[in-house]
Amino acid sequence: MTTLEAPVTSDVATLTIDGQTWELPIIEGSEGERAIDVSTLRGDTGLITLDLGYANTGSTLSDITFIDGEAGILRYRGYPIEELAEHSSFLETAYLLLYGDLPTKDQLNYFEERITNHTLLHEDIRHMYRAFPLAAHPMAVSAAVVGALSTFYPDSVDPLDREQVEISTYRLIAKLPTICAVAFKYAMGHPFNYPRNDLSYAENMLYMMFGLPTEEYEVNDTFTRAVETLLILHADHEQNCSTSTMRMVGSSRANIYASASAAIMALWGPLHGGANQAVIEMLHDIAENEGSARVFMDKAKDSNDTTRLMGFGHRVYKNFDPRARILKDHAHKVMDQLGESGRLLEIAMELEELALNDDYFVARQLYPNVDFYSGIIYESLGIPTNGFTPFFALGRMPGWLAHWREHHFDPRNKLNRPRQIYTGETLRSYVPIGERGG
Ligand code: CMC
Repeated sequence: MTTLEAPVTSDVATLTIDGQTWELPIIEGSEGERAIDVSTLRGDTGLITLDLGYANTGSTLSDITFIDGEAGILRYRGYPIEELAEHSSFLETAYLLLYGDLPTKDQLNYFEERITNHTLLHEDIRHMYRAFPLAAHPMAVSAAVVGALSTFYPDSVDPLDREQVEISTYRLIAKLPTICAVAFKYAMGHPFNYPRNDLSYAENMLYMMFGLPTEEYEVNDTFTRAVETLLILHADHEQNCSTSTMRMVGSSRANIYASASAAIMALWGPLHGGANQAVIEMLHDIAENEGSARVFMDKAKDSNDTTRLMGFGHRVYKNFDPRARILKDHAHKVMDQLGESGRLLEIAMELEELALNDDYFVARQLYPNVDFYSGIIYESLGIPTNGFTPFFALGRMPGWLAHWREHHFDPRNKLNRPRQIYTGETLRSYVPIGERGG
């Protein structure tokens, strides 16, 4: 269970403004990360802090995930991502994120049963899909359907009722694959597949996407493991944009479905989860139009050009993203299994090689991130490009839920409401329209 303790150290930061001095406590996390606690700053001094993009701002204390961006370390509840990717299953990792410890066999069985009990969608939800154009992006459709779940389950929307939160947690993890798979099938004009509870979470997702009533569905272990690994690697990443959105929306006591819908929308952006789609589009562009990786790299380095090397760089990692290392290996395994030359994988490796030896990327500490290789795996599995980011959402759902629960279960948390420094017009009087110039 969470402890959410951040011991105050004996050190203090001293702040001097206009000759007056204040002492600000310094707190230290369990991995030695230190922060100046400014929670009383405005009351004491009348000043606020300004931090565009929040790069230096801790928005919360959290027991869930630890990242050391300089060393390329990622741990869920203390467990290294490499060990979880190798040994754990997605649902076991979800349990770990939600409840703090790895489950016993019985606990895992119970949790898996609860999830599989909730994989079906209410039949009326299916009518919603017909309201969208065929070309609708599945992230938009999924966010809409997830938000609409609150209308189907009004009995479980009280954010302060732990039992209701528990059942909504099961529902969101269980139903999101079905919600996304129905969106794909609808866009393809194929009949929808009902979930199969005899399959694992990853197997079931692939079945719902690719199974056809006309033929037997065959489970492929390499593909399943690649998807399972992707889901585990995506399961949490502390206070990223979509998780912060989940916490922000939840902090108003909006229900958990509304919060998750907002988080899906935040994930969609190409600077965040949408980068996996952007990477594959970039690789195709290089293969078809740019001619060479080097020409593209020059564009990405040109300050007069908005092109970026997608799948490179990270706000927190200033070293290799450990998730990218693991996925590179899986991309090769999937290619070997398919017996394909993997032209896109070749271009990706060429880009990586060029970037790692290029002064521009080295100086800015830009390394491959999780999205650099994930798109190649998705594409090799036959997932349509606009279906990549929904897989990221499936993976991230347990992390979003763990953070939402942590926020609500810690009485110290309150409405998230940042301040601003106003830079607009100062006081002026209303001018009637007939008296305005121009
Ligand atoms: N290609 C070219 N230049 C880049 C890139 C890139 N991918 N990323 C950063 N830079 C440059 C940027 O132009 C700036 O240069 P300068 O100092 O000369 O102005 C410098 O590096 C710092 O960039 P920034 O935008 O201030 O850094 P940030 O921490 O705000 O951005 C980022 C982080 C992930 C938004 C950015 O690296 C990026 O746009 N990467 C490509 C998109 C991407 O792959 N996103 C997925 C992130 S990982 C999955 C997830 O968490 O969702």
